[in-house]
Amino acid sequence: MAQQEDHFKKVISHAKEYGYIFGSSEIYDGLSAVYDYGQNGVELKKNIREYWWKSMVQMHENIVGLDAAIFMHPTTWKASGHVDAFSDPLIDNKDSKKRYRADVLVEDYAEKLNQKAEKEITKAAKRFGESFDRAQYEATNPRVLGYRTKQKDATARLARLLEADDLAGVKALIEELEIACPLSGSKNWTDVRQFNLMFGTKLGASAETATDLYLRPETAQGIFVNFLNVQKTGRMKIPFGIAQTGKAFRNEIVARQFIFRMREFEQMEMQFFVRPGEEMKWYEYWKETRLNWHKSLGLGEDNYRFHDHEKLAHYANAAADIEFNFPFGFKELEGIHSRTDFDLKAHEEHSGKKLQFFDPELNENYVPYVVETSIGLDRMFLAVFSKSLQEEQLENGSSRVVLKLPAILAPTKAAILPLVKKDGLPEIARKLMEDLKFDYNVVYDEKDAVGRRYRRQDAAGTPFCITIDHDTKEDGMVTVRHRDSMKQERVLIEKVKEIIETQVSYKVWMS
Ligand code: GAP
Repeated sequence: MAQQEDHFKKVISHAKEYGYIFGSSEIYDGLSAVYDYGQNGVELKKNIREYWWKSMVQMHENIVGLDAAIFMHPTTWKASGHVDAFSDPLIDNKDSKKRYRADVLVEDYAEKLNQKAEKEITKAAKRFGESFDRAQYEATNPRVLGYRTKQKDATARLARLLEADDLAGVKALIEELEIACPLSGSKNWTDVRQFNLMFGTKLGASAETATDLYLRPETAQGIFVNFLNVQKTGRMKIPFGIAQTGKAFRNEIVARQFIFRMREFEQMEMQFFVRPGEEMKWYEYWKETRLNWHKSLGLGEDNYRFHDHEKLAHYANAAADIEFNFPFGFKELEGIHSRTDFDLKAHEEHSGKKLQFFDPELNENYVPYVVETSIGLDRMFLAVFSKSLQEEQLENGSSRVVLKLPAILAPTKAAILPLVKKDGLPEIARKLMEDLKFDYNVVYDEKDAVGRRYRRQDAAGTPFCITIDHDTKEDGMVTVRHRDSMKQERVLIEKVKEIIETQVSYKVWMS
């Protein structure tokens, strides 16, 4: 646990130190749960978006893109259910005046019990040494069993109360469990009430004529309202998909864990329109396809798992998350939802316009069913960045910090390093830069000893360093150093592009 926390702290500080992520408006002490992407962060984010876009749109003949506006007609959110049902149960502590998500207070309480149980187990493991049988200890030790029973009981009761929308019951549970405000230590709570997560804003010049709008809390609705526009103008036949990336906004109350839960974030969503009755087949297809996409990046297959939802959202008849092993444990990275015909039907009702497809094979009109894949770009960024950041012990006893980003996603593909700043080496390096820059982001660095420059590029995540030395002038060869293996090879300068290409071509990564 402490090791995980330590790694997470390193992730946050490394992201700042190397120009990946800064707190928003930091000079004014920042804005909670809002972040800015720096010179390297913007490139990594763009590359993740592009990797997603290419695999979803370019690689699928029957998926096309869309870029709908963030502002949408306010009725959109009535139809989608967000005005009535997109809320969190909140509770205030009367003494500290701090606001909490009531469900998170109970979940944190349960997690503390889990940690107590884990502590007991770790202590016992130390005491018993090699003969320790964890499973047996967990099943028989009264203290561990006590903690686990209380933990399960609390989460199960919370789930039942939320399901029944029993907010008074949630408050009573918090009181019964004697949960105190982490800030004031007091148990003096207000009632629990629902708080809508959408940000409101106004459109219009004067206060009297202005229309109330929402900043979109998901990109999906822009796809639904354009379903027929795209289907007709693109002459799309079912099954087909519409993909979109873009900003979404949620007034998250518990906003912590860095870019995991933000108030302004970016989503990459795809709605796949299918024949009614065929949705489960496509749901399974997209679950598998999306998991394979994640695995293609080589961050470790054990770091992913599915979590099938038992409690379904109002629009879904099946739903699963792809969870990732973040520095703070397994958490949702992507959602795959079978959304039925809920959204299109709701938009038909609220707009009075038909949103149907004429299926020539069946010779009938119907409202298509939808399977959605939805992933947070920032969350994906955190997954990639946190797994890539590693500290390695080297054979010579020293250590290095290396950001082993998948080469296809790395902000800079190669650093061009003249060994010295004279003797014509910078000129050769510049010429190589000129040649490569049309295809790749490359940087030039001539400061410090070459070993230090290598370390700098390792920490920034650059997969290749190309060194030009005095021999280059004689034999036209350069040293290519590989970030992950630190292996060096001497190659003709004309071969450099070919070597980079083998590691950054989409074909290699996606097939
Ligand atoms: N259209 C479906 C939808 O929006 P969701 O589970 O609420 O479903 C989908 O969100 C994905 O968006 C999540 O799996 C997560 O990756 C990302 N996401 C949601 N809320 C987020 C937040 N506050 N900050 C960062 N990413 C978020």
